[in-house]
Amino acid sequence: MKIEDYLGKRREEVDQFLDAQVPQANTSPETLYEAIRYSLLAGGKRIRPILTIAAAEAVGTPPKALLPVACAFECIHTYSLIHDDLPAMDNDDFRRGKPTNHKVYGEAMAILAGDGLQTMAFELCSRPDLVSDVEPSCQVQIIYELAVGSGNQGMVGGQVLDMLAENQTVAIGDLQKIHVHKTGKLIRASVRAGALLSGANDTQLEHLTGYAEDIGLAFQIADDVLNVTGTREELGKDANTDAERGKQTYPSLYGLEGAKKLALDCVDRAIQRLELFDDKADPLRDIARYVVIRRS
Ligand code: IPE
Ligand code: IPE
Ligand code: MG
Ligand code: MG
Repeated sequence: MKIEDYLGKRREEVDQFLDAQVPQANTSPETLYEAIRYSLLAGGKRIRPILTIAAAEAVGTPPKALLPVACAFECIHTYSLIHDDLPAMDNDDFRRGKPTNHKVYGEAMAILAGDGLQTMAFELCSRPDLVSDVEPSCQVQIIYELAVGSGNQGMVGGQVLDMLAENQTVAIGDLQKIHVHKTGKLIRASVRAGALLSGANDTQLEHLTGYAEDIGLAFQIADDVLNVTGTREELGKDANTDAERGKQTYPSLYGLEGAKKLALDCVDRAIQRLELFDDKADPLRDIARYVVIRRS
C-alpha cells in the first residue's frame, strides 16, 4: 500500500473513533465539549496514533484496545497544541487551518479544554470496556509510558526548556535536548505503547525505541524547516513564527540545507533500527521517510 493511502486509511479510523468517543457538544458542560471537539476534530495528521498502530502491527497481532490507546496519544498531543498556542506560550492565532482554541473560546476555556483532553487520554487507556482484552500489567505499563512521555521528564519538561530558551543563545546540544523532550518523548511513548500492546520482547522494544527517538527528532527538525519554508495554507498554522519570537531552531543554527541533512540522517538511522523486522514494519519505514518530505 502506498504510504499516502496507508496514512489516509489510518487517519480515518482515528478520526471516527475520536468522533464516536468524545461526547457531543450538546453534552454538559457544553462549552467544554465544544472546545475539545473544535481542536481535536480539526483534522491533524494523526502521526502519533498512527505510529502506535504501525508499531503494534510490526510486532504482531494487536488487541482491540489498540485504537483507544492510539487515540490517547492524540488527545495528549491536541492538548499540548492548545496550550502551546496560548498567549502565555507561543501566542499563535491559527492552528489546523482554523483560529486557535483560545481565539474562539477564550483563554480560560482553552486551558480547561487542554486539561480535559489530558485526563481523557488516561481514561481511554484504562476504561474497562475499551481495554478489556489487555492484561492489567500491560495496561499499567502503557499508562506509565503515556504519563512519562507527556510529563515533566517528557513533553512538558521540553516545553519548559523551549520557553526558557526564547531570546537566548542556545548551544546545539541544548536545542537537541529541547526537541527530544518537547516532541520526541511523546512520539517515543506512542511507538513503545503500540509495541507493548502486541507483546514485544525486550529486543524488539529496544529497536523500536531507537527508531522512535530518531524519527521524533527528525519530526521536530522538519517542523522547524517548515516554519521557514511553508505557507499558512500548507501548514494550517502561521509560518515564520520561530524567527519572529526569537526561537533558535535547527535552520537558524545549521542553515536550511544543514537542518534538512540532519533530519535525513535521523531517518536513515531510524530505518536501520528496523533491520530485525520483516515487511510488517514497512509502514514504519515509510512513515520515517514521510516525516521529512511532508509539506504540512
Ligand atoms: C505539531 O505537531 C507540533 C509538533 C510537536 C511538531 P503535528 O505536526 O503533528 O501537528 P498536527 O497534529 O498534524 O496538527
Ligand atoms: C510544539 O512545538 C511542541 C508541543 C506542542 C509539545 P512548536 O511550538 O515548535 O510547534 P508548532 O510549530 O507550534 O506546531
Ligand atoms: Mg512551542
Ligand atoms: Mg508553537
